[in-house]
Amino acid sequence: MSNIPVYLTAEKHHLLLVGATSAAMAKLALFMNTGVRITLVGLGTIEAATAAGLSPEQTGVDTLSIHDRPFAQDDLNEKTLVYIGVEDDITEERILRLANARKMPVNVIDKPAKSNFITPAQFTRGPLQVAFSSGGVAPVFVRRLRSSLERILPPSLGVLADAAGNVRGKIKSIIPDGTRRRLFWDRLYDNAGLYADMEQSEVERLVVEAAKNHRVGATTGQVQLVGAGPGDPDLLTIKAHRALQQADVIVYDRLVSRDVLALARRDADLVFVGKREGEHGVGQEGIHKILVEEALKGKRVVRLKGGDPMLFARAGEELDALREHDIHTEVVPGISAFQGIAASTQIPMTDREYSSSLTLVTGHLKDGAFKDWARLAGEGQTLAVYMGVRGAPKISAGLIGEGVKGSTPVAVVENGTRANERRFYGTLSTLPELVKENAVKSPALLLIGDVVKNARDLNLDKYLPLLQAEAV
Ligand SMILES: C[S@@+](CC[C@H](N)C(=O)[O-])C[C@H]1O[C@@H](n2cnc3c(N)ncnc32)[C@H](O)[C@@H]1O
Repeated sequence: MSNIPVYLTAEKHHLLLVGATSAAMAKLALFMNTGVRITLVGLGTIEAATAAGLSPEQTGVDTLSIHDRPFAQDDLNEKTLVYIGVEDDITEERILRLANARKMPVNVIDKPAKSNFITPAQFTRGPLQVAFSSGGVAPVFVRRLRSSLERILPPSLGVLADAAGNVRGKIKSIIPDGTRRRLFWDRLYDNAGLYADMEQSEVERLVVEAAKNHRVGATTGQVQLVGAGPGDPDLLTIKAHRALQQADVIVYDRLVSRDVLALARRDADLVFVGKREGEHGVGQEGIHKILVEEALKGKRVVRLKGGDPMLFARAGEELDALREHDIHTEVVPGISAFQGIAASTQIPMTDREYSSSLTLVTGHLKDGAFKDWARLAGEGQTLAVYMGVRGAPKISAGLIGEGVKGSTPVAVVENGTRANERRFYGTLSTLPELVKENAVKSPALLLIGDVVKNARDLNLDKYLPLLQAEAV
């Protein structure tokens, strides 16, 4: 069934709602604060509305009147919309027939075939009203769409939008330039979550304050360093998702999964800056150049990084390069590999029995970065080694050389959180073979410590004798 989308002006309508059912109360709750006049009729309506906390005494809403008696034909007089939510079919048919005879818009709640209009799935954010309909064909899809949009548009957006409406004139005098003002509003709405749970007057004060402090930098362009998480797109933050949907240019490398990239705006420029087999790639300086050039063109640039952008990701260098050019920067955190893998393997990183500390370390052995072996692992500690696949033999030998037990449990997780995740379990002394025999490839994380015993799919029959044999 196709529909015509129309928004009715609440104040100009008078709605008749018949019935004391929970469906009728749900409609009452939906409409009672919109300003529409509502007449609620039916036996038991006062009790039902009071039980739902919707009576005029409880809410102070003066546009609602309740008549606890059976429906009468005259109830239709002067009404412009009718909702029927009664239990008995004979009453339902009677009201429907009378309303149709008067050619009134009538809705039998949850019975679209009998109705001549529908109430779409909807939600509001202050002045913003979003309504959905699939004409009754795909209600599950509509529900999913609604919940994903509700997530993207935080409730605080409503307060912010109302506040923005009230101070719009002031902001115009503080930031007279139209382009810069648009950028100010854009950034403000990006960070709507900051205004959660605040009174509107406080939000208005903060918005004016933010406008006074608004610095645009050398350009209206900006760069967001965004955490793509370890691969599963459901692990993106809502803020990261939004950044991907808004970016003009997305600069990414090999660690970013295809599923995450698929969430980018369709017409965004995707710029790959990783290394391909047998190629050098653009290098770190090349990445800086691309970020700076695109931002200086006034573009919204997302530098998308695997995991969290502030962990083993050269974020400091990129931020420095951008600041040198006075470019506005922002960081959107992501789930780091160790967090995603803690979840997929169900290995807690700390544990009252096994470990009270967690160390994140790079296994890149260049520059002797990984040499204080003794400090890094051992009883009561967990070690998560990033980029440790190639160095696994040296890591194993180095730790054992400093007295860490060869029987310390180890997990090697390749492509953590992705559909092709592979997990291998062994001990510190068998780590090199574990990596070699299974031909483990990057990206993979090494977890070293007793907490690994908690892994959900550890084959204890196979594993425990190994630990015991090595412990003697
Ligand atoms: C350059 S570091 C980047 C780390 C990233 N910023 C983070 O917070 O996860 C790359 C290393 O992270 C680890 N890594 C990243 N994603 C991974 C994944 N999905 N599974 C396993 N390890 C991963 C691997 O050790 C990989 O060599």
